[in-house]
Amino acid sequence: MKWRSEYEIGVESIDAQHKELFERVELLLKAVREKSDSAAETFDFMKKYTAMHFRDEESAMASAAYPEARAHAEEHASFAKRLQAMEAEHARLPSSPWLTLNLAVELGHWLRDHILEKDRAFGKFLQSR
Ligand SMILES: [Fe+2]
Repeated sequence: MKWRSEYEIGVESIDAQHKELFERVELLLKAVREKSDSAAETFDFMKKYTAMHFRDEESAMASAAYPEARAHAEEHASFAKRLQAMEAEHARLPSSPWLTLNLAVELGHWLRDHILEKDRAFGKFLQSR
């Protein structure tokens, strides 16, 4: 999951957090490749980091009176739940490279799709004001 400039939404702090999240997905993929047991730590980090990141995004939306803020926050909340379930799935089968790989890919795809569609829409809204 390599970072691409098209993922930028134009808000420096949010873009930096997104990059960090992509790097952590890369770490998960690396853990699978190297058969290391660091994935549990990465899932734990992701859970905490996304909680902070979603709060930051939502407060930026609130201060900009973004009309889609509520729907956007709901998407964050459902992903936070999914991330918790992912961590539990991984904890049940920590040494399955297949499971870890699948979870990493799901995480990466969610991030990419959410950023490209929802976060960039917020970026455009900010620029159009
Ligand atoms: Fe978002």
